[in-house]
Amino acid sequence: MVVAKVETRDEVAKSVSTGRSERTVVKVGFDFGTNTSVICAAESGKDVELKQDMVLSVVGYPKPGLLPGILPRGKRVLFGEEAIQHRLHLNLKWPLIKGIVTDFEPAKDFMGHVRTVIDPDGAKEIWAVIGCPANSNSEKCHDLRTGCASAFSKVLIVPEPFLAAMGFRDESRLDDPTYVDPTRNSLFVDIGAGTTDFCMVQGFYPTSNEMASMNKAGNDIDTAITAAIRRKYPDWAVTAIRITRLKEQYSFVGEAPERIVVTELVGGKPRHLDITNEIKVGCDSLVDDVVKHIEEMASRCDTDAVETMLNNIILTGGGSLIRNLCEVIQAKLHGKGYTTARVRRVDDYKRLVAKGALKTAKAVRDDQWQIPV
Ligand SMILES: Nc1ncnc2c1ncn2[C@@H]1O[C@H](COP(=O)(O)OP(=O)(O)OP(=O)(O)O)[C@@H](O)[C@H]1O
Ligand SMILES: [Mg+2]
Repeated sequence: MVVAKVETRDEVAKSVSTGRSERTVVKVGFDFGTNTSVICAAESGKDVELKQDMVLSVVGYPKPGLLPGILPRGKRVLFGEEAIQHRLHLNLKWPLIKGIVTDFEPAKDFMGHVRTVIDPDGAKEIWAVIGCPANSNSEKCHDLRTGCASAFSKVLIVPEPFLAAMGFRDESRLDDPTYVDPTRNSLFVDIGAGTTDFCMVQGFYPTSNEMASMNKAGNDIDTAITAAIRRKYPDWAVTAIRITRLKEQYSFVGEAPERIVVTELVGGKPRHLDITNEIKVGCDSLVDDVVKHIEEMASRCDTDAVETMLNNIILTGGGSLIRNLCEVIQAKLHGKGYTTARVRRVDDYKRLVAKGALKTAKAVRDDQWQIPV
């Protein structure tokens, strides 16, 4: 059985007393994503449907000198999609870089917003299991806890790919002999915005040897696409947001499924631009590194378990949506002699980590929670 384990105790600022809270406790699974944050919540063991369960992880502060009344309802700080819509008048800040809290002010503001989404009246206590990139060190976990301290009374930090595996597990089918339990022996590859995380899930909470994190993911694809586009169309003043949207619409690896020709304004005039090769160059830039890390994980895996694990390589995260990615990674692994390797993607990656985090939150004992500082 998979057992949620508290991270190293000596890093924890304060151990939690087992005294009961007077206020209603909401248990939350929180996927604090570099790009998007996802929330799943439960009260008294029952799942709660939130009005909004996903927020783009971005905070917008008004640019200096902005006239009153330009921002909606005179707001001073905007969050998520609303901040993106008003980006012309805002300085945008992302609370996480590569899955790590680096700028505490926007992190604190963003978490204040998340708190309001979960508990608009501020009357409840929130205990959250929070995902972190695989193999985050104690300093990074501490920063994540500090970044979330304003919103959550108690927290537990757990590696994201492990939570993804928990989220993917279908407990109702565990007695079905045809069901392959993903937490039994598989390799999860979570391709996010900031990091790509690898985790062998073999029935236990993973050790650091069973995880790896690569500092290359969706944002780096955007950078590679931007560089290629700048070389081909130097006059096109394409924005970072537009690049991301184009990538998400057309991403592929390997053979191009079609020519990608977009109509864009260049110097104010519409032009038809072929960006097939630029999208390909960007997306392809991740593949060899992912394959290399899978090989590394295979070399660390027990000989008895490696075949089954390679047969259960599961891609998740936004990057898993890249067309042809499973097929290309699988073919490369076969080409390297891992002939039994099978790569597939999850159906609904978006809520997987938060779902797994909520399952974990429900299973955690009261004395295992930590008080964030
Ligand atoms: N169809 C798509 N094709 C390619 N990339 C995509 C697609 N859809 C989303 N992405 C990319 O996936 C990334 C976001 O994935 P995800 O939501 O898993 O990241 P995150 O959890 O916010 O980041 P991290 O896990 O690194 O903190 C972004 O770079 C986004 O542009
Ligand atoms: Mg993620």
